[in-house]
Amino acid sequence: MKKVLIDCDPGIDDALALALAAGSPSLDVVGITTVGGNVDLPLTTANALALREFLELGNVPVTPGSAGALLRETVRASRVHGTTGLGDVVLPAPALGPADGHAVDFIVDTLKAAPGEITLVAVGPLTNVALAVRREPRVVEWARDLVIMGGSFTRGNHNPAAEFNILADPEAAAIVFGAGWTVKMLGLDVTLTAVVTSDVLDRMRSLGRLGELLLAPAAQFYGVVTADGGPAIHDACAVAYVLDPSLFTCVPAVVNVETAGLYTRGMTVTDFKVTAQDANALVATSMDVKGFWDLVLGAYEGLAGR
Ligand code: BDR
Ligand code: CA
Repeated sequence: MKKVLIDCDPGIDDALALALAAGSPSLDVVGITTVGGNVDLPLTTANALALREFLELGNVPVTPGSAGALLRETVRASRVHGTTGLGDVVLPAPALGPADGHAVDFIVDTLKAAPGEITLVAVGPLTNVALAVRREPRVVEWARDLVIMGGSFTRGNHNPAAEFNILADPEAAAIVFGAGWTVKMLGLDVTLTAVVTSDVLDRMRSLGRLGELLLAPAAQFYGVVTADGGPAIHDACAVAYVLDPSLFTCVPAVVNVETAGLYTRGMTVTDFKVTAQDANALVATSMDVKGFWDLVLGAYEGLAGR
């Protein structure tokens, strides 16, 4: 079993990443931490709590963390994820509340308790991870790995230069990329290939309430999904990488986060012309899309059949 701690801002595709983790018997989710991102922290936390029960994750602790970026004004993505963060999906009200304490302490304490065992998967702005690194630099040694959905070496989505998770807290991202570990970066370059095509939608339709959750983004934000495909489920790529890194082609790189540019703040400036020793990141450059969907839909079908 691979142990994962998931830091997230649900978020429709965060929900789909959590569903992939919940439906994968080879993963042990040791904790969920939340960060303000797609929507405000109270909503990302409420969504994580509802998802924990909907996805039958038992009493995995859900610990709220940072409400906003280290230095910058708040950037939200409710235009993409709806005002609640989960589009038009309404999940049953959860019976259990959040854990006591703060996500940053939870991350530090959990990694410390099991050095080398737990992969940190961050699929929201990197505020909690940066603060954990600042508070206890040894988290870099204690984490088995850090896998993020964020950045890109070709383009942005929130604006032409920047991907949302990095743009939402560029200083935090700069701290994380500079911390001394090799960040596994699943950026837009690959996640935008993980789109919900008509074929994928057909398989999702048989998944009952889980299917409703999965179909909502397509229905809400893209209307009729054409044969060309619907929305990308970015964050699930980070969990898929933990499950099966062989689905991805990854290249060592030095990634620097632009924090000062007038038009380029939040850009992940990626240099592939480096030696593996100099690299601070392993950047995914392509993925096996069919293998990805087989993995993801297999997990979802397993969940729906419980
Ligand atoms: C990322 O931004 C968020 O809106 C998504 O949840 C994902 O983590 C994609 O750029
Ligand atoms: Ca996210």
